[in-house]
Amino acid sequence: MDRIRLTGGVKLRGRVQISGAKNAALPAMAASLLTSQPVFLDNVPYVRDILTMKTLLTEMGVEAEVRPDGTSMLRAATLSSFEAPYELVKTMRASILVLGPLVGRFGRARASLPGGCAIGSRPVNMHIEGLEQMGAKCEIRHGYVEASAPRLKGARILFDTVTVTGTENLMMAASLAEGETLLDNAACEPEIVDLADLLRDMGARIEGDGTRTIRIHGVAELDGCAHRVIPDRIEAGTYAVAAAITRGAVQIENCCPAHMAAILTQLERVGVEVEAEADCVRIRGRDPIRSRDITTNPYPGFPTDMQAQYLALMTQGDGVAAITETIFENRFMHALEMIRMGADITIEGSSALVRGGSLLTGAHVLASDLRASASLVLAGLVAQGETIVDRVYHLDRGYCRIEEKLVGLGARIERIR
Ligand code: EPZ
Repeated sequence: MDRIRLTGGVKLRGRVQISGAKNAALPAMAASLLTSQPVFLDNVPYVRDILTMKTLLTEMGVEAEVRPDGTSMLRAATLSSFEAPYELVKTMRASILVLGPLVGRFGRARASLPGGCAIGSRPVNMHIEGLEQMGAKCEIRHGYVEASAPRLKGARILFDTVTVTGTENLMMAASLAEGETLLDNAACEPEIVDLADLLRDMGARIEGDGTRTIRIHGVAELDGCAHRVIPDRIEAGTYAVAAAITRGAVQIENCCPAHMAAILTQLERVGVEVEAEADCVRIRGRDPIRSRDITTNPYPGFPTDMQAQYLALMTQGDGVAAITETIFENRFMHALEMIRMGADITIEGSSALVRGGSLLTGAHVLASDLRASASLVLAGLVAQGETIVDRVYHLDRGYCRIEEKLVGLGARIERIR
């Protein structure tokens, strides 16, 4: 298994290019199941989760090409299978995103239930309940959900809590349903709007995406299209924290600062200099880093996918910061590894109290999930001596060529194969 070795103490400097958003490209690829025509995607990040989605679609009979240059062509002319098998779903929960499109277009699907993961129990009950409200018959058997419906019917669906992939799954299913569907308390992440834009390019009739109420008028058939995936706001946020924590100066390019407002505002609050333009942002880290509390929330609140990176930054703060996680019930595994590096953190229920001013020392640490692994790399960038991060396959799931990009900013980092 690959590892990453890095030595801290370098102020990062220079420019970094941001890749397309993993969490926008995954539903976009699943949306190709909604039409027999080709869907051409651009700015698709060449990361492991994207390749898993490609494998999943190929196994169903989709003609799927994904290239390192970010281009992709997907054509679901006919399918030989309507199943998302356990072997793939257990490696990537987002495989559940094929459920809505399959039932929407083919009236049937069988998908392994994702089960829990390192950050929480993560049920998909709202995906299934939404399909049932649209008239699907859903049965849970042998660890799979089996869904069938001659043709879905429009419905009014109120989500108990905001769910990103739940909103995406039902928006895709509703695009081919009979009549109108209303999604209430819907997620309004930029990735939702990007998917709605793609579906509209395919001929879907969708309004209100980006707000808590989305209205979808079903159509009989969808067409192919060409679509450029939005930049990855979480990858961009991770490099912004890398610049701040090393007190460096970095220009982050091919990003969308408008999608990063909560992240950039919080960085300014802690004393980081932020200069944003339409598609790039300049970050200059300064001393002192002020300790400031944060609570994660659905968009436009502070993203849970930036919580671990922000926690690493707060280990270098000038006081105490309370970090409260409201989305996932078990998302502080990285804190335990940072304590081994010398950080002063106490976990109390859904909050971590981070006492700043710690002199971190390099250590052998274990990544537990995608964002936790990124935060351990950030901690290693300021730690004294060498840090070895194990299980970097987590990192490869969502970060494109991270060590190459960090070397480009002057970091002393390498992959040990
Ligand atoms: C998406 O996951 C992202 N993944 C996650 O990013 C991100 O952390 C999360 O949204 C929140 O922003 C993708 O887009 C592929 P949710 P998702 O459904 O859709 C509960 C990363 O690092 N819930 O919005 O799975 C759930 O347990 C990943 O890139 C139910 O109870 O998250 C959680 O507490 C990690 N029942 C909350 O809602 C349901 O049916 C929000 O989860 C669905 C969700």
